[in-house]
Amino acid sequence: MFLTEKRLISPRPLEDDDNTDISVRPLTLKDYIGQNKVKENISIFISAAKERKEVLDHVLLSGPPGLGKTTLAAIIANETGKPIRKTSGPAIERPGDLAAILTNLEPGEILFIDEIHRLNRSVEEIMYPAMEDFALDIVIGKGPAARTLRLDLPPFTLIGATTRPGLLTSPLRDRFGIQCRLDFYEVDDLVDIIKRAARILNIKIENEGAYEIARRSRGTPRIANRLLRRVWDYALVKGNGVITDTMASLALEMLEIDEWGLDMLDRMILEAIIVKFGGGPVGLETLAAAVSEETDTISDVYEPYLLKLGLIQKTPRGRIATERAYKHLGYPLRKDADEPGLFNLEE
Ligand code: ADE
Repeated sequence: MFLTEKRLISPRPLEDDDNTDISVRPLTLKDYIGQNKVKENISIFISAAKERKEVLDHVLLSGPPGLGKTTLAAIIANETGKPIRKTSGPAIERPGDLAAILTNLEPGEILFIDEIHRLNRSVEEIMYPAMEDFALDIVIGKGPAARTLRLDLPPFTLIGATTRPGLLTSPLRDRFGIQCRLDFYEVDDLVDIIKRAARILNIKIENEGAYEIARRSRGTPRIANRLLRRVWDYALVKGNGVITDTMASLALEMLEIDEWGLDMLDRMILEAIIVKFGGGPVGLETLAAAVSEETDTISDVYEPYLLKLGLIQKTPRGRIATERAYKHLGYPLRKDADEPGLFNLEE
């Protein structure tokens, strides 16, 4: 097992998330905090589709893990009053698997495919006519005698979610009429998300306590909700159950989550670049091997936030640690570095 799989600040879902997550997940756009542009657009498109008595156009939701793509898909289903069927790119192995799903959809149903960038090519080809014409093209026979039979499908809305929109082929991407990119949340939005979850879960929390958790949650609601639970545990055992800023700070310190929301693995990544690779540039695979982690996890889960904080930069030759990274980890800079943005350790 890789180190990150059970990490408290992994934006990927953990088994223990389920109970908390489901009970605090917003069910309507009104209750969904943050991502205002995305919310506004989706709200307009849903109203317009209702007015035209048509199904909502296909929606592509992209962005780092834990920002609420699945939640948003469930909200869209709820707001349009349609059922939702959930699956994922890797779960649909053969064209026949997708054909079975599509032919079983109810009119207007929402088909949610997580990790849609991982659909294989032969499955993807079935998807094109399904998305464009609500039709399934079945090839019967082989060679010159082969014929195509077209089956009508019920109208449906495909919602695809991806952490890697760049990996989608352009024919697939172009068939999504609505494309929304979710971004890391502002701290103020995370404060509201934490206070809302605390209300639902009957957790006593002060504004400053919520702020302390929010600013260390890497802009990610899934992490904020998870840290809220752990800090609550701490407050119950070490205090009187109320989450104050001191209580939150102590709990997060004990969990080794620093002021910027970085945990051990983030620091290992930065330290590897600085110490083992002289500040970089270092290739993704070399870096992943140095910290014993999967390359996809580094690129999808860690890098987006380290980039956002300006702690690393991506260059054509690999990743480099920035001046901020040296300062944050307390390493001295070498001023005679021969590349801009590249800093080496003092001898
Ligand atoms: N829980 C998780 N994400 C949320 C969001 N965006 N708004 C409200 N509650 C949430």
